[in-house]
Amino acid sequence: METIKVQDRLFTPFLSEAEIKGRVAELAARIDKDYVGKCPLFLAVLSGSFVFAADLLRAITIPCEIAFIRVSSYEGMGSTGQVKQLMGLKEDIAGRDVIVVEDIIDSGLTMKELQGILAAKQPASVRLASLLVKPGNMKVDLDIPYRCFDIPNDFIVGYGLDYDGQGRNLPAIYKVVE
Ligand code: IMP
Ligand code: MG
Repeated sequence: METIKVQDRLFTPFLSEAEIKGRVAELAARIDKDYVGKCPLFLAVLSGSFVFAADLLRAITIPCEIAFIRVSSYEGMGSTGQVKQLMGLKEDIAGRDVIVVEDIIDSGLTMKELQGILAAKQPASVRLASLLVKPGNMKVDLDIPYRCFDIPNDFIVGYGLDYDGQGRNLPAIYKVVE
């Protein structure tokens, strides 16, 4: 992997396809074990989590379901700090074991907000699964039991994550060259 350009910025290799694949498989095995005998409902948060969700779900072997939701609050390279409303949830999650699937948790504000909205719908349980977590940026107290990589605060792109709309198609993850 070498340095690449997305829009006006350069990005350097950070996590390879093989590294990501290995961690996603480990996470799927943990979820398989933790939810044995249950049928979890994965809620993939669009758009960024679509690649992670597709790989994670194909590594899960227990019965499960997936639905897609949207709670966008991020523009360019800085969080707006404004959380929009939950969109797209048509499934009744009352009594369900919900696993929220995120690409990256940065300030944690999006997930905190979403947890509150979901809790009001009386699910049996809600847990967070995030491919990436930036612990250094976390502004709220958030339990993230399922996480593949804890990373520094650098802006990253690829494997579903975008920089101004582009780069989601990159099979690996790259970090911005400052
Ligand atoms: P939070 O509310 O600050 O945790 O925002 C999380 C959302 O911001 C993620 O779902 C991403 O869409 C976006 N985001 C945060 N950090 C990055 C990054 O480094 N690259 C691309 N998107 C990011
Ligand atoms: Mg996201």
